[in-house]
Amino acid sequence: MRQRGCAEREHVDARLRAAPQLHELPLGVAHVHGPSFDSVAHRYADVDGARSQLARKIVEGGVGVWGPVPMPANTQISSDQAVALADWILSLR
Ligand code: HEM
Repeated sequence: MRQRGCAEREHVDARLRAAPQLHELPLGVAHVHGPSFDSVAHRYADVDGARSQLARKIVEGGVGVWGPVPMPANTQISSDQAVALADWILSLR
């Protein structure tokens, strides 16, 4: 997972390990350079299309929503994995 570049150090969220459907994902996700996933979940709680919007962002990366620091593209993540990650992140509120 660390090789995948999605997580660094601590902040590994026990909820990810507790989510059986996500076990095959190469993640144990920390997001030390970006917004906490709880914050993301709150921000998009009432946003239509948040699932696909975030899934695309997870794969393509981007900048400017939370601040000036860019999120790099995560091209090693499949679109199915990205959708599963978006679902998981959105569930964290
Ligand atoms: C699989 C790994 C990752 C996932 C699932 C993920 C997920 C997310 C999500 C859902 C957002 C919110 C996007 C939005 O509001 O439009 C975000 C933003 C961000 N992420 Fe990640 N991320 C990952 C990897 C990384 C990495 C490796 C870095 C930096 C080394 C990073 C840095 C950031 C930053 C700086 C933002 C804010 C971007 C902005 O303001 O638009 N992320 N990430």
